[in-house]
Amino acid sequence: METDNRLQSFPSGGVAVVLGAGGIGAELVRQIGTSGRFDSIIVASRSPDSDAVEALVEGSGGVVDAVAVDVLREASIAELAAGLAAARARIRMVICAFGILHQPDGPSPERRLEDLSSDSLARLFAVNAVGPALVARHLAPLLPRRDRSVFAALSARVGSIGDNRLGGWYAYRASKAALNQLLRCTAIELRRRAPGAVVAALHPGTVDTSLSKPFQSGVAEDQLFSTDHAARRLLSVIDSLRPDDSGGFFAWDGSRIPW
Ligand SMILES: NC(=O)c1ccc[n+]([C@@H]2O[C@H](COP(=O)([O-])OP(=O)(O)OC[C@H]3O[C@@H](n4cnc5c(N)ncnc54)[C@H](OP(=O)(O)O)[C@@H]3O)[C@@H](O)[C@H]2O)c1
Repeated sequence: METDNRLQSFPSGGVAVVLGAGGIGAELVRQIGTSGRFDSIIVASRSPDSDAVEALVEGSGGVVDAVAVDVLREASIAELAAGLAAARARIRMVICAFGILHQPDGPSPERRLEDLSSDSLARLFAVNAVGPALVARHLAPLLPRRDRSVFAALSARVGSIGDNRLGGWYAYRASKAALNQLLRCTAIELRRRAPGAVVAALHPGTVDTSLSKPFQSGVAEDQLFSTDHAARRLLSVIDSLRPDDSGGFFAWDGSRIPW
């Protein structure tokens, strides 16, 4: 049994915001809750009334609140930010845990150029790259100026250009590469505006969720993480990040991934 992460690098109290209550996002919310480090955890989901999200809220003893956000609707992100600002929330952690590997009900990830579609490229960029950038646009101004905070987004190793030897998955790879660049720009800007903030792109490993389900057959059993294991490793990396690490791209074991 792995031990819970206490997230001790964060001052006690304050608010954590997790966007996307999918396989990894929901488990991040649960484990941030059991750390006891935050007064409040906001889970932002397109379906805040779903059974899964309601179970998260009910199991949290009043710490988790669910709000409706669809990152394809910027106004919903702005509303989240306005609510947090009105509550004078001390935001210490923001994790973008949403993303798509291919268009819902659309074709599988591309294997060759003939599979490319402008709709699919646009949709993956909108969710995977523009989504986290808009979250940063609206929530980064609310991060404390000097105190420690972390703004992390789940990227993917396949978004690494230097590490791309197999090709394919054009839209997913390119949208995650774009995400990494947008996070890097954010990190550089926040160095001046909020020097206590650490911005990071994180690769969770291959994790057993609905996103990876159709592509798990070639993955060795010990390389396919449970959501529990992935969330533990991600929170441990987040806990270890320091201001000098801001703008980096890290794997679940804390190692740096080439751009
Ligand atoms: N699983 C893996 O092996 C793996 C590997 C590398 C990277 N990642 C990354 O990890 C992140 C989380 O993935 P996951 O494995 O937890 O996948 P998942 O279970 O499919 O969860 C993804 C979540 O993204 C949210 N989302 C927000 N806006 C969306 C939109 N417009 N369309 C579709 N979904 C939207 C949804 O949450 P709501 O319904 O609550 O809005 C959805 O449940 C993604 O960024 C993914 O690229 C995963």
